[in-house]
Amino acid sequence: MLETELEATLAGFAGIDLAALARREGTPLYVYSADAIRSRLNALQLALAGLDAGICYAVKANSNGAVLRLLGGMGAGADIVSGGELRRVLLAGIPADRIVFSGVGKSADEINQALDAGVARFNLESRAELDLLQTLASKRGIAARASVRINPDVDALTHAKISTGKSENKFGVSFDEARKWFDKRARWPAVQLDGLHMHIGSQILNIEPIRQALQRMAALWRELDAAGHAIASIDVGGGLGVRYREGEQAISAEAYVAEIRMALDGFKGRILLEPGRWLLAEAGMLLSRVLLEKHGEARRFLVLDAAMNDLLRPSLYDAWHDILRVGVADARPQVTYDVVGPVCETGDTFAVGRDLPRCDAGDLVAILGAGAYGASMASSYNSRPLPAEVLVDGDRYAVVRRRQTFDEMIAGEQPANDWRQA
Ligand code: LLP
Repeated sequence: MLETELEATLAGFAGIDLAALARREGTPLYVYSADAIRSRLNALQLALAGLDAGICYAVKANSNGAVLRLLGGMGAGADIVSGGELRRVLLAGIPADRIVFSGVGKSADEINQALDAGVARFNLESRAELDLLQTLASKRGIAARASVRINPDVDALTHAKISTGKSENKFGVSFDEARKWFDKRARWPAVQLDGLHMHIGSQILNIEPIRQALQRMAALWRELDAAGHAIASIDVGGGLGVRYREGEQAISAEAYVAEIRMALDGFKGRILLEPGRWLLAEAGMLLSRVLLEKHGEARRFLVLDAAMNDLLRPSLYDAWHDILRVGVADARPQVTYDVVGPVCETGDTFAVGRDLPRCDAGDLVAILGAGAYGASMASSYNSRPLPAEVLVDGDRYAVVRRRQTFDEMIAGEQPANDWRQA
């Protein structure tokens, strides 16, 4: 039923009849493979063997509680960017001392929640945030551990919207600014500033920018160390890309970690990694049913019951996701389709000019590589309820998020009859 080159990706789903699953649980349906998630985390953990290193999974990639429990149970920590992610991670049983708090705009409320929980470390991105952490931590009479997020001014050679390490991006601070923070450390006595952090972008397939950024950060660490500023933690961020389409070559865990080992040779503190996509993307797919086939004037459209609200990546980044027709191979002719959703936007397009075996209404398709930044970016745009999610483990599956009901979708809304003055 499936092309050979995709077999490895699909191995994690081999114990399940996807057609039966879709019939039982309905579509659109996110399906994750526990095996695939485990084997990715395992591979990274193995590559890190011998290093004092921790994996803080970037929760934004897939924040489903069952996924968090799976990763946390294998020893992963979490990289969070909001109070909501903090609560999810704690609920999933990931201990606070394995949590780092990143993000360019943390509110006082969120910082307070993280201080209450006792997170391991704050990754700070501006002087204003450093001041705020000082104020909030000093009120409690504690010293909060923090790292400065460096903007190494490196082009990650990825999509502009997910590139974060250039000086024109909103993320991190310059080396000069970081030096100032360390030199004037005494100004922020309630902040224990002893770490460096970076994250230059996502879906990185080229090792060169990673190498460059690591080297720049390592140079800063050495310089600070020589100046008497002990660095206890270096967080190299996430960004490791995956193979979404034929011809793309992902960097292996071993090659990636080899760069880290080389750049940080001699570092005595703890190394943190914040992978998201690499752990989850290929461990998930979005199952969707064909609503209808439509012969437009100029193109042939395949209209699915999944849409941009379920999987935003193609609309937002023109991202490529392999699409397969699920079912027995019955030697159908190939047809070139624009694969689209029912949402009222031209951007609601999963693929343009894609060759697929001819599909009929009711056929099932799988959109691959949807385990990361899929469900976590879903919305109920066009008043389409959030999709369901299932986790497959061997020949079993569990619904880890049931389909949102209409009532749940509108639960927070109310008629405008309680008028107040402000
Ligand atoms: N650490 C920080 C501080 C981040 O901002 C991110 C992702 C990560 C780690 C994890 O990066 P990863 O290993 O997943 O590349 N929605 C986009 C991706 C946005 C990534 C945002 N930051 C997409 O669908 O491609």
